[in-house]
Amino acid sequence: MHGLLCYCRQGFESDLAAELGERAAAAGVPGYARAERDAGHVRFITADAGDAAALARALPFRDLVFARQKLRLLAELRGLDPKDRLGPLLAALPPGLRLGEAWVEHPDTDAGKPLSALARSFGNALRPALRKAGVLAAGSDPHLPRLHVCFLAGDHALLALADPRDSAPWPLGIPRLKLHPDAPSRSALKLEEAFLVLLDAAEREQLLRPGMSAADLGAAPGGWTWVLTRHHVRVWAIDNGPLRQHVLDSGLVEHLRADGFRWQPPGPLDWLVCDMVEQPSRVAARMAQWFAHGWCRQAVFNLKLPMKKRWQETRLCLDLFREQAGRPLRVRTRQLYHDREEITVFARPA
Ligand SMILES: C[S@@+](CC[C@H](N)C(=O)[O-])C[C@H]1O[C@@H](n2cnc3c(N)ncnc32)[C@H](O)[C@@H]1O
Repeated sequence: MHGLLCYCRQGFESDLAAELGERAAAAGVPGYARAERDAGHVRFITADAGDAAALARALPFRDLVFARQKLRLLAELRGLDPKDRLGPLLAALPPGLRLGEAWVEHPDTDAGKPLSALARSFGNALRPALRKAGVLAAGSDPHLPRLHVCFLAGDHALLALADPRDSAPWPLGIPRLKLHPDAPSRSALKLEEAFLVLLDAAEREQLLRPGMSAADLGAAPGGWTWVLTRHHVRVWAIDNGPLRQHVLDSGLVEHLRADGFRWQPPGPLDWLVCDMVEQPSRVAARMAQWFAHGWCRQAVFNLKLPMKKRWQETRLCLDLFREQAGRPLRVRTRQLYHDREEITVFARPA
């Protein structure tokens, strides 16, 4: 079996399939997406290993919107005997394979979650067996591919490989973030995850510095503003709703009861963040105006998606944003783990 295996949020399989299909076609790689409703993953099947490699190169993980994880398919194992799942798995590995790590997973879905105990115990048996067979390095090695065994049922698994430089570094593609007791809302996790996933380590260091300035449009009750103040960034928090008192008490926040689609900053700011619940094309157009006027250097904003054709809406909004921003931007977009019916965009000057 050749192609890609990508994980996604349950219910977004057709959106990921549409994204992969369109991007594969644009890259000139033939193939087709296999997506089942609520499966939490999509396979994009190619004719051979050469096409799969070409597709993996043409679709860097960083550029994918609806994928939480990007892997190269190796094999599908069906009818696994509960008494010996290891044998068929070892037999399915290509000769000469050397692995840096081996993870056993399951889709993050209602049907997949009950498989977590099996995944854990099988992983504990698999790793020593792979080391004994000389396939798995003694310590984790980020230069070697990582094996992913994804159980779809007790007797059914997909085998795939990750390039550690071109995949999510977290099991199931999910960064585990804990809600801080002081966070005014669960939304705080969305901005924390955006900084972790959409910025690289150098960008986090360079772009999130004490004394920087930001606007937060649609700020109440203050989760995103609170995340910014934890980086000692000064924030104009724009919302008709109230902000939690301890966020205001930081001394870094100016709360203005104003319309986020009309308010303009008194001068250029480092950051614009926006979590207003509005039509995505309206938000994208307003974000573009901020860049066109030079009101912010970089931005993180959410686009709330419609119920259907979410990939098409994503593409339309991102095209509109780039066109109207009036300057070349580096744009990264992802449906984050803490996003529900929405995606998060990070944009900075190219
Ligand atoms: C999802 S909540 C934001 C949560 C916030 N990011 C947090 O972390 O606590 C959306 C907010 O957008 C605000 N909002 C919607 N339309 C707005 C507008 N035109 N101007 C300002 N705020 C708006 C709403 O009042 C609401 O508080």
